Amino acid sequence: MQTDELYDKFVLSNYARAPITLVKGLGCKVWDDAGNEYLDFTSGIAVNSLGHCHSEWINNLANQAKNLIHTSNIFRNEKQAILASKLVDKAGNGKVFFCNSGTEANEFLIKIARLAGYEATDKEAKKFKVLTAKNSFHGRTFGGMAATPQEKIQFPFRPMLVGFDHGEINDIDSFASLIDDQTAAILIEPIQGEGGIHICTDAFLQDLRTLCDEKEILLMLDEVQCGIYRTGKFFAFESSGIQPDAIAMAKGLGGGFPIGAVWLKEKISQLVKPGMHGCTFGGSPLACTAALSVIEIVEKEGLLSNVNNLSEKWHAGFYKVLEKFPQLIKSIRASGFLVGVELISDMMPVIKNLRENGLLTVGAGGNTIRFLPPFMVTEYDLDQSINILNNSLSNF
Ligand SMILES: Cc1ncc(COP(=O)(O)O)c(C=O)c1O
Repeated sequence: MQTDELYDKFVLSNYARAPITLVKGLGCKVWDDAGNEYLDFTSGIAVNSLGHCHSEWINNLANQAKNLIHTSNIFRNEKQAILASKLVDKAGNGKVFFCNSGTEANEFLIKIARLAGYEATDKEAKKFKVLTAKNSFHGRTFGGMAATPQEKIQFPFRPMLVGFDHGEINDIDSFASLIDDQTAAILIEPIQGEGGIHICTDAFLQDLRTLCDEKEILLMLDEVQCGIYRTGKFFAFESSGIQPDAIAMAKGLGGGFPIGAVWLKEKISQLVKPGMHGCTFGGSPLACTAALSVIEIVEKEGLLSNVNNLSEKWHAGFYKVLEKFPQLIKSIRASGFLVGVELISDMMPVIKNLRENGLLTVGAGGNTIRFLPPFMVTEYDLDQSINILNNSLSNF
């Protein structure tokens, strides 16, 4: 049986998959089983930060796999300890917990909000509510879904976990007005990814910090999609100069190997005691090697400078496309290598046309096409993406 037939027969239809089977990747290119080449600007949805099959990353993983792949968190492993120290260097004084995915990282943040809320009160009237943003996306587990106020995510799985309410990004009053005695935390994406690349302003993040301090609640950031160098900084929130209380990470952290992580500020980290949380696969020597290699290679190859040096011209290319096709494009929202092109009508025919012209992109909320190149792309690759977008849009 062909792969498409095997899919039809045996793989759950929980994705509306593109009708191509990818068989090989190298750098920012992938090939399908018919030999067609594509410029991959999905990066596995913000995961393959080094591009496909980076040789040093592969060697590091292969060497680690020959030595030790998985132990258990009932023992120490050196790679986990080193990775935790690197993440603390980036995030600030605190401690790190490891898991496998973004939704698991957020699930732990929700537990942390309740734990901190419990400790902060007389235990009877405990604080447990978490405020998130409308249009946000925090994952598909019950905590992740409850934090994600989107009909398409929650329906038909209601009733949701209790204790969530939702404000508007860049509207501090909408959050302030929701805080009551039971509120424990605000959890927010500095840039909404799945929601359609909606960017929190630095001023809004600063106001959230002040609000959380005044109300004595936690400010927790979901950097699962926008974090790990994608915006030209390790964390997207860095430009605001604030210090959050907790950060969720995943996606780009492992460069293609599953790993999630949560950083907690030192004071909050001390609330967690043995037995309160765990994860069988979290922080294995192999997963941590993958993440350490991403950090090492980005630093060694100057890939962060690549993101920062090439973004401005690339973004300008998108704005020129907007000028050319105002009848098709509603707006462009961009930060580093995270760009959203919001269309006036259905994005799916355009995504299909881009693919047929050799460019892979991914849809997001509000008919927004996401462009997520790996960090090692060249100026030529970025120019190509703009050319293909121009050509495709002239068909509509
Ligand atoms: C901001 C954000 N949080 C959480 C998640 C969930 O991550 P995962 O799919 O790894 O569970 C995603 C996935 O797209 C995300 O973009």
